[in-house]
Amino acid sequence: MNSETKVICLIGHPIKQSFSPVIHNYLFGKYNLNNIYVCFDVKENLDDTVKSIKNLGILGCNITIPYKVDIIDKIDLVDEYAKLIGSINTIKNEDGILKGYNTDGIGFLKSIKDSGYNICDKRVLVIGAGGASRSICIELAKNNIGYLKIVNRTKKNAQSIYEIIKNNFDIDVEYTDKIIDDKTLEDIDVIINTTSLGMENDLSPIDKKAIPKSNTLLCDIVYKPQNTELIKWAKSNNLEIIYGIDMLINQAFEAFYIWTGIYPSNEDFKFIKEIYNKY
Ligand code: ATR
Repeated sequence: MNSETKVICLIGHPIKQSFSPVIHNYLFGKYNLNNIYVCFDVKENLDDTVKSIKNLGILGCNITIPYKVDIIDKIDLVDEYAKLIGSINTIKNEDGILKGYNTDGIGFLKSIKDSGYNICDKRVLVIGAGGASRSICIELAKNNIGYLKIVNRTKKNAQSIYEIIKNNFDIDVEYTDKIIDDKTLEDIDVIINTTSLGMENDLSPIDKKAIPKSNTLLCDIVYKPQNTELIKWAKSNNLEIIYGIDMLINQAFEAFYIWTGIYPSNEDFKFIKEIYNKY
């Protein structure tokens, strides 16, 4: 570090458990960039925080819970899809103009594409209707899936995503709060869990006795633990699996690209995944 080192930061609360500094500081070193990634635990005063990004010449930020939605109205420009999603997780400071993006859904879809799976025309079941679901559903629609079903405990949250998709894309979409059973799964090609069920607990959004169609792709955005109850269910049914850690790394790579113009390599991906597994 020297007097020219530029700061990229994470803004959120709490942020103690974040893996982002590990990813980005490794990449800054690898690509010889005079940048450092630090975490700011912001408990209040988001307005002052945004002013500080400009005043201190901070090059870029990731935004996490609880500010992904609230910060949208406080920055200068917002990417078209981030506007539709209604939240941002990345900011780039371009000569004092703060522009916001959302890389969650793009990172998720990259994980699917990298696995060699073609999502085009597929029938997709998305479980959950929070922020992550919103960005994933919009990205799925952008990528021309054939059908989308959103299942969520609170029906009105699923309905609000349904309306965004219905009003902006030409996709066959439905929503429900009904329990997922064999009948729900019989014509589904891809299942995506976007709820927190399984995160450091042994809960699953799908009953372990439920039978999926063979060749179903199962994606769980929960990355801690890696082998959630849902992943165990998928393994016992011989399903193809995409893990939450893949999306986490890919959304970080998309943000890194926005800040630096460099897209990290497959080797970087493998190396970071290895670090994560020992973390
Ligand atoms: P994120 O930004 O990570 O998506 P979120 O916006 O809090 O987080 O959304 C969490 C999702 O997990 C929601 O769909 C939530 O369901 P509700 O809309 O009914 O709140 C879902 N979820 C969380 N805990 C759940 C539980 N115990 N059972 C079922 N769904 C749950």
